[in-house]
Amino acid sequence: MIRLENVSFSYANLGPTVRDLSFHIRKGEFVAILGANGAGKTTTMKLIDGLIRPTSGKVTVNGADTRETPVSQRARQVGFLFQNPDRQICRNTVREEILFGLQTVRGEEGEEALKQRVDAVLEDFHFTGDEEPFSLSRGQRQRVALASILAVEPEVLILDEPTTGLDYLECCHIMDRIRRMNEEKMVTILMVCHDMEVVLDYARRALVMAGGELLGDGDVRTLFRDTALMERASILPPQMIALGTRLGIAEADTPETMAEAILSRRGGGSA
Ligand SMILES: Nc1ncnc2c1ncn2[C@@H]1O[C@H](COP(=O)(O)OP(=O)(O)OP(=O)(O)O)[C@@H](O)[C@H]1O
Ligand SMILES: [Mg+2]
Repeated sequence: MIRLENVSFSYANLGPTVRDLSFHIRKGEFVAILGANGAGKTTTMKLIDGLIRPTSGKVTVNGADTRETPVSQRARQVGFLFQNPDRQICRNTVREEILFGLQTVRGEEGEEALKQRVDAVLEDFHFTGDEEPFSLSRGQRQRVALASILAVEPEVLILDEPTTGLDYLECCHIMDRIRRMNEEKMVTILMVCHDMEVVLDYARRALVMAGGELLGDGDVRTLFRDTALMERASILPPQMIALGTRLGIAEADTPETMAEAILSRRGGGSA
């Protein structure tokens, strides 16, 4: 679905921001990109979306080279949720906002089909459509931005820190909605997230970056337990994983499974 082959990228005459990246993401995967500030995560996602083109190497989405894909086709394949929802919201009501994105990308479907798409998404996200985006909370605006992207039904969803600035409930709403897209519609998800607990809960695979290079690629739990890798990438693993690593309990990653593992070590019995 998404393939990077020896991709490097430099902004203007600066040195390479990302270097020799190679990986393949299959349809329906849920992948997190992890790394410290400046590691090259956003740059990598922009390369996949085609917003920037590789200085060397090749990026293909569904077999099509991003250097040769027209913007309209790209927008249908890949939805990009920016870190700041206000960068993508530009209309006065939620209905207009969702319709605007659709007209740009799926205008040829005709007015009636687009209206149906808008109605379905509004209902799904519990919006009436008359809300004014800029009078909504930050979490609600994030949901408006996500709704506009999902209305287009992209095959790939790229999320740059989708939960930053949201409270716990808002975060769960957004992430559960994203998980449903992944599980029910096989939408491929690529997410940058600085909250490792969210990564542990939702992503299955992770790419670990530092200094523009890919240091690790694999199962989320396995990578979190790789203490040397986490240190090199300046990532603090989720607390349960860190505790499990300290105690030599590899199988536990929730309070429940951790409690069970500790109790059974003490010779069985329940709390
Ligand atoms: N438009 C630009 N022009 C020049 N340098 C840039 C540009 N955008 C990013 N960079 C630099 O490229 C490097 C990687 O940036 P990138 O935004 O990909 O990192 P990131 O991993 O997304 O970081 P963060 O977690 O802070 O969002 C950084 O050193 C950054 O300063
Ligand atoms: Mg970034």
